[in-house]
Amino acid sequence: MAVIFRVRGTRDLLPPETDLWNRVEQTARSVFARYGFGEIRTPIFEDTQLFSRGVGEETDIVSKEMYTWEDRARAESERAQSLTLRPENTAGVVRAYIEHKLNETGMLQKMFYIGPQFRRERPQRGRYRQFWQIGAEVLGPAWSGAESALRDAELLEMLATLLSELGVRGWRLELNSIGSATDRPRYIAALREALVPIKGRLCEDNRRRADTNPLRVLDSKAPEDQALIDTLPKIKDFLDEESTEHFRQVLAALDVCDVPYNVNPRLVRGLDYYTRTTFEFTVPDGSGLGTQNALLGGGRYDGLSEILGGPKAPGIGFAIGEDRLILTLQAQVERDNAAVERKLDAFIAPMGIAQNAAALSLAKELRACGLSVELGDGMFRLRKSFETADKLAHRMVIVGEDEVNSGVFTVKYFAAGEQSKVPRAELASVLTAGITRVSQDL
Ligand code: HAM
Repeated sequence: MAVIFRVRGTRDLLPPETDLWNRVEQTARSVFARYGFGEIRTPIFEDTQLFSRGVGEETDIVSKEMYTWEDRARAESERAQSLTLRPENTAGVVRAYIEHKLNETGMLQKMFYIGPQFRRERPQRGRYRQFWQIGAEVLGPAWSGAESALRDAELLEMLATLLSELGVRGWRLELNSIGSATDRPRYIAALREALVPIKGRLCEDNRRRADTNPLRVLDSKAPEDQALIDTLPKIKDFLDEESTEHFRQVLAALDVCDVPYNVNPRLVRGLDYYTRTTFEFTVPDGSGLGTQNALLGGGRYDGLSEILGGPKAPGIGFAIGEDRLILTLQAQVERDNAAVERKLDAFIAPMGIAQNAAALSLAKELRACGLSVELGDGMFRLRKSFETADKLAHRMVIVGEDEVNSGVFTVKYFAAGEQSKVPRAELASVLTAGITRVSQDL
C-alpha cells in the first residue's frame, strides 16, 4: 500500500520539540497574565465575508491565500454558506467583541489567543500553510482609553519583555505610522501618481501592485527596485496633526521605558484594517528563518469594528509567528552549543587490544604535558575509533604495533582532513601547537 504523507506546507510537531512549544506558550501566558490579558478562543473557520471585508479584498491573503469552500445546506432550514479557515485571528476577535456586545461593559478588552492559522502560501522555511500564532488584541470604546498612545507603547513594551523572557536575542522593532483612515487615501493617491512615470522600470510583481495595491510596492524586497522605491513619497508627510501627535506620543513613551525602535517609513503591512501605528519585530539573518525575518507583526485598527458592522471600537494588537519564534530559539541554542563546544586536544586510538597498555602509557605522558586526552579501546573497529575521535577531539593518535615499535605515531587532523607521522618526543608539542604538518609528512 502507498504511504500517505502530510499535506504540503503542514508540519508534525514531535517530542521533544513540543516541550519547547509548551515552554514558549507557558511563558507567553504568564507574561500576558501580568499585563491583564485573558484568553479568547474563536472558531477555526468563519464566514468568508469576515475576512474579505475585514482583512481586505485586494490583500494577498484574501485574493489568493485563503482556504475557502462552499458549505452545503443539509436541511431546508439551512442555507449554503461560504466558509474560510481563518488566515489570521484579529477579524475573529473583533467579530466576537461585536457579537457578545463587549462594548457594553464600557471597559477596555484585553484578550490573547494561541492557535493555528491557514494560508495557501508557497511553503518554505518559516512559511507554512498551517502555522501557529500567539497574538493579543486590546480594544474598547474610545472612552475606555483604547485609542490612547499609551496602549500602543504598553503593548510594545510587553512584547519586548516577552521576547527577552523567552531569550530571543538581537530582535529589532520596526515601527511606523500609516495615519488615519482619511490620511491613507490621500497618500495612496499620491503614491499612485508617483508610480505612473516609474512603473515601466519596476519588476513585474511591483507593476501589478502599483495598479492593485500601491502600498504593497513599499514593502517589496526586489533588490533591483529598491532605489526607485526610495524616491516615492513618504507616508509621514501625509499624516494629519492628530496622527502625527499620536505617533510622537508612542515614541516618547517607548523612550521613557527604554524600548529601542527603528522608525521605518516603508513599513505598511499587508492587511487593510491597519491605521496609525504599525510594527514588526524582526531578527537578524542567520536566526534560523531563512528569508522570513519577521517574527511578529501588528498594529492599530481603529476602524475595523465599524467595517464589520459593529460600534466604534479602536484597537491595537499583534501576532507572533510561533513556528518562526521556535526556529529562532532553536538556531540560537545551536549557535550557543557550537560556541561552547570544547573539543579535546587528542584522542588516542589503540589498534587492537594488544596495544591498550601502550596507548594508556602514551595518554598518561601527554596528559602530564597538560594536554586534554581521551582514550579509545583496542576492541573498537577502526571506523568506530574514527567516529568517536571526530566527535570528541581535534586530532587522533593511532597506536598500532608498528607505531609502538618504531616510536613514530600517525596523527590525524580532523578539521584539515590531513594526517602525518610524528616521533614520540615531538608529539606533545605538535598536539599542543595544533600544527597540521611536520617534516615527516607522508
Ligand atoms: P501577519 O503579519 O499577517 O499579521 O502575521 C503575523 C505573524 O505571523 C508574521 O509576522 C509571521 O511571524 C507569522 N506568519 C504569517 N504568515 C505565516 C506563514 N505562512 N507561516 C508561518 N508564520 C507566518 C496578522 O496576522 C495580524 N492579525 C496581526 C495583528 C494582530 N494585527 C493586529 N492584531
